[in-house]
Amino acid sequence: MLHTFGAVWTALSSVLTLSSWPHFSPAHDTPPKFELQKSWGVYSPFHAAEDYTPLPAGCEISQVNILQRHGARLPTEHQTEDILPGVQKLQSAEFYTDPRLDFLDTFVYSLEENLLVPLGAIQSFESGKTALRRYASLVTKDDLPFVRASGMSRVIETAKNWTAGFAAASHGVYTPRLSLIINEATNDTLQDNNCPNAGGSHKEMTEWLDVFGPPITARLNSWAPGANLTNEDIHGLMMLCAFHTVASVPYGYTEGSPLPFSPFCSLFTPSEFESFEYSSDLDKYYSTGYGGRLGRVQGVGYVNELLARLTNSPVVDHTSTNTTLNADPATFPLNRTIYADFTHDSVLTAVLSAIGLFPTHKLKTTHPKAHRVWRASEIMTFSTRMVVEKLTCERSVRGRDTSDSYIRILFNEVLQPLHFCGAKKKGPWRGLCQFDAFLESQAYSRNDGEGDWEKCFEE
Ligand SMILES: *[C@@H]1O[C@H](CO)[C@@H](O)[C@H](O)[C@H]1NC(C)=O
Ligand SMILES: *[C@@H]1O[C@H](CO)[C@@H](O)[C@H](O)[C@H]1NC(C)=O
Ligand SMILES: *[C@@H]1O[C@H](CO)[C@@H](O)[C@H](O)[C@H]1NC(C)=O
Ligand SMILES: *[C@@H]1O[C@H](CO)[C@@H](O)[C@H](O)[C@H]1NC(C)=O
Ligand SMILES: *[C@@H]1O[C@H](CO)[C@@H](O)[C@H](O)[C@H]1NC(C)=O
Repeated sequence: MLHTFGAVWTALSSVLTLSSWPHFSPAHDTPPKFELQKSWGVYSPFHAAEDYTPLPAGCEISQVNILQRHGARLPTEHQTEDILPGVQKLQSAEFYTDPRLDFLDTFVYSLEENLLVPLGAIQSFESGKTALRRYASLVTKDDLPFVRASGMSRVIETAKNWTAGFAAASHGVYTPRLSLIINEATNDTLQDNNCPNAGGSHKEMTEWLDVFGPPITARLNSWAPGANLTNEDIHGLMMLCAFHTVASVPYGYTEGSPLPFSPFCSLFTPSEFESFEYSSDLDKYYSTGYGGRLGRVQGVGYVNELLARLTNSPVVDHTSTNTTLNADPATFPLNRTIYADFTHDSVLTAVLSAIGLFPTHKLKTTHPKAHRVWRASEIMTFSTRMVVEKLTCERSVRGRDTSDSYIRILFNEVLQPLHFCGAKKKGPWRGLCQFDAFLESQAYSRNDGEGDWEKCFEE
């Protein structure tokens, strides 16, 4: 058994960089394109999936709306409770039969909880710089981005690092402030705390863990006799690979350079991480994604705010918006050109599902489909971002010049197909929807979730 895993381990080692580890020769069976940090689902650090697509000729951007998840963070209290038992059980074993566990002789668990880590701050700062550079033509001293954050420390710090990056890229000329922090105990379109009846994804995640967990649990128990690890412990230890790694990245790290992978990562194979990744896909899908009975509706409040900004008209919404905040130009202005909102993965998932992005039929809890668009490692990572651009395009139609408005959406830089509002699949106009067609396509949000919001409160 160890022999078999040794071969796969060799494959994994080629993507790990921790210098203190034993050297392994490059494997002949390296899985194509496997990159460890892209297999952690919602705990993967941000990575742009492609280069920014330039605008079609004749088009200019007139408004930008950014919705971004906080950067990489420490585990929550709840996650710490899932992680610690596995570590303690491994450390309670009297001896190890595999040297990959030897680091535990001196390992001390010391991760705090909840806070943004330097990697998260760096990635937010970089995204602020990118925003200034990309949209410089929209910025003046009187027209700075309007920035909101949901009221949790890691989200607030993310927003502040973004504004700091934005200012730095302008050499201090444009210094946007974090304009509004929304209390998470109130109506908050940037947190999923407003729908009491919303369900979770525990059932689906457990079903999948029961499928992929047992062989891993058996292997680690054979490496640490008497540890008595459970499948849940294994899931916690795989999360710890991600959290311990992102927490180990120092300030001064350059985005994109190799990560200091945790020794916990070496306990699992690439295909095991692919299974772990799928549990994140199921988690998001069945909580605030398409698979959650009251998932999408939790994104409606933000979408209605977005539609208000795009149409330069008051917010029409009867879900999670705060009418007091949104009626006041100081807390919900409509005359800006860049809006940036900082939030959580659960909200981003609800919003993209309310809009109709990454449409996905039922995800099975028995096996992942290899070709699925719903991949948390690509779309719900730390610092993940959706950008809605409003464009004005001049075109010559039958000899007459016309000027029309369009919408396009980028998710982690990937231009979205927007089939639901008639965007072209190919050519320079790929991904653009006529402005009115986009508005019409958002009927679910404009109709307050078509009856779903009420179900949040039914007895
Ligand atoms: C937006 O409106 C506010 C309040 O009327 C005004 O103070 C501000 O200068 C306006 N900003 C822009 C960019 O027009
Ligand atoms: C960026 O985030 C870090 C980590 O949370 C924090 O210590 C720092 O104060 C933030 N920077 C700004 C400019 O707020
Ligand atoms: C709406 O926002 C105001 C201003 O921040 C706050 O005082 C109030 O509690 C909020 N109301 C609700 C229901 O969220
Ligand atoms: C593991 O289980 C065995 C048998 O149930 C028990 O004797 C042992 O004490 C357990 N070990 C730990 C570390 O809990
Ligand atoms: C807060 O949300 C609830 C539920 O949708 C709504 O009934 C209430 O009017 C909202 N409060 C404010 C101040 O917007």
